[in-house]
Order: sequence, then C-alpha cells, then structure tokens
Amino acid sequence: MSQFSKQEVATSFSRAASSYDNYAKLQQQVGEQLLSAVPTTAQKSANQVVDLGCGTGYFIPRLMATFHPQNLIGLDLAPGMLGYAREHHAAENISWVCGDAEALPLASASVDLIFSSLAIQWCENLPQLFAEISRVLQPGGYFVFSTLGPESLCELRASWAAVDAYQHVSEFTSFRDVRGSLGDLQEISFTVEPVQLLYSELRGLTNELKRIGAHNMSAGRSGGLMGKQHLLAFRDAYEGYRRADGLLPATYDVAYVVLRKPL
Ligand SMILES: C[S@@+](CC[C@H](N)C(=O)[O-])C[C@H]1O[C@@H](n2cnc3c(N)ncnc32)[C@H](O)[C@@H]1O
Repeated sequence: MSQFSKQEVATSFSRAASSYDNYAKLQQQVGEQLLSAVPTTAQKSANQVVDLGCGTGYFIPRLMATFHPQNLIGLDLAPGMLGYAREHHAAENISWVCGDAEALPLASASVDLIFSSLAIQWCENLPQLFAEISRVLQPGGYFVFSTLGPESLCELRASWAAVDAYQHVSEFTSFRDVRGSLGDLQEISFTVEPVQLLYSELRGLTNELKRIGAHNMSAGRSGGLMGKQHLLAFRDAYEGYRRADGLLPATYDVAYVVLRKPL
C-alpha cells in the first residue's frame, strides 16, 4: 500500500494548478491513450459521466466531445485544482465536486462511466476505492482508468539509491495489488506499457515534477535539506543513463485498465 497524506496530496496539487497544464506532458499523452481505450459500448450509454481526479480539467472538453453526456462531474481532492478547472471549463451540464475517491460524495448507482487518468496512484486504500467505484456505478457501468506502477521513475529512484537510503521518489502500489483489489468489478482489459520521456537536462525532469505537484510525497522521505555533495552525487549517478543521442530518459510504468460493474 502507498503511504500518502491526503492533506499533503491536496495541498501539493492545489499549489501546482496554474503551472500544471504547461508541464503535464506525460499526463496529456496517457490521458489521450486512455480515452481511446474506452469501449464503444460504454460510449453509447454514457449519460452520467465522472472525471475522477480531474485536476485542471484538461480532459473535460475531450470527455464532452467524445461522450456527449447529459451530466459530467469533475471531481478532485485538491480545491485549487478544482477552482482552476471550474474557471477554465465551465458549462451548464458540468458540475464540480471536491471529494475523495475513497469516500465518493455521490449517490449509489448514479453513474454510467467513470474516467480517471493518473489519479488513483495517490489513493491509500485500493479495496475501499474500488468498493466506492462499484457503489456509485450503475450495473453495467464502466470504470476506465490509468495509473502508475512501482517501476515508474526507475532511473530517478536508482540514482538517489546510489547516494543515500532515504526514499526520494513516490512509491506506488504494484499492479498485482491493484488487480487483487478490484472486488466485484469485472476486468475487461489491463494493459501495461512503459512510457519514456526524454530531457536534455535533469533539471527538466525535476522541475516538471515540481510544477505538476507530483514530487515525492511518500512517508519515508528525508525531512532535512539536501547537501551540495549529495546533489552532485545524485546528478552524476543520473548522468549514467544519458543515451547515445545525448538525452536523459525518465521511464514510467503505466497501466490502462477497463473494468465493468456486472449487470
Ligand atoms: C497527476 S493529476 C492528474 C489530473 C488529470 N486527471 C490529468 O490527467 O491531467 C492527479 C490528480 O488526482 C487528484 N487526486 C489525488 N488523490 C485523489 C483522491 N483520493 N480523490 C480525488 N482526487 C485525487 C489530485 O488532486 C490531482 O489533481
């Protein structure tokens, strides 16, 4: 299980709201791929749709254009993200809900489709999350989500491990544990694909993680300030990954999942 403080997750993403869209390259790429994974049967009957962990609302216009729902709810834990989303994507049939995916403030059997891109990796209790999803879905409804696995940012993790024993990179739940937590939801597909982003400088990656609010939030991290020697050693270790084309890779372990609530 991951060990994230909800308050800290909410504060960190709220702070990043205004810079997020300019830096969320991975999130935009993964969300587009997730949209194309929504089954045609789900598209036809998607009248009540939720974007769970909607962030800045980047995918709200795409969800509206794809599903033409009667109602679309953008739901997020971070009030700052939700405020930004409301300001930039307001429409009559869109409502905004500040809430926790593990305790959804939504009525039972009220939703046809829940779309969620790169949000549930911040949840702590996955059996509770999937039980909540099952509760709010109509029988036959779909939960389509992407999430990150523990191999994500392996280069960053290994480079820090060469320097000290603290946890410097957020620790995400294994896909095996995700699959073991689905409860009564039926697995339609579970596809794992690595996604690699490339940077000319390490600062490009570390700055991006900061600007999207997704820097290390794990409980085992160091609380103290980093010494210069530590930082130099870390940078040297990461330089070991520089490719023949001169670029530094950052690899993410991404799962695209389609679940259905049985009829
Ligand atoms: C990396 S952002 C992804 C945002 C958007 N889905 C996208 O792809 O651009 C993760 C979002 O999930 C939200 N989040 C994290 N934990 C959550 C929870 N327990 N319930 C609802 N939202 C959560 C964060 O506040 C943040 O806005």
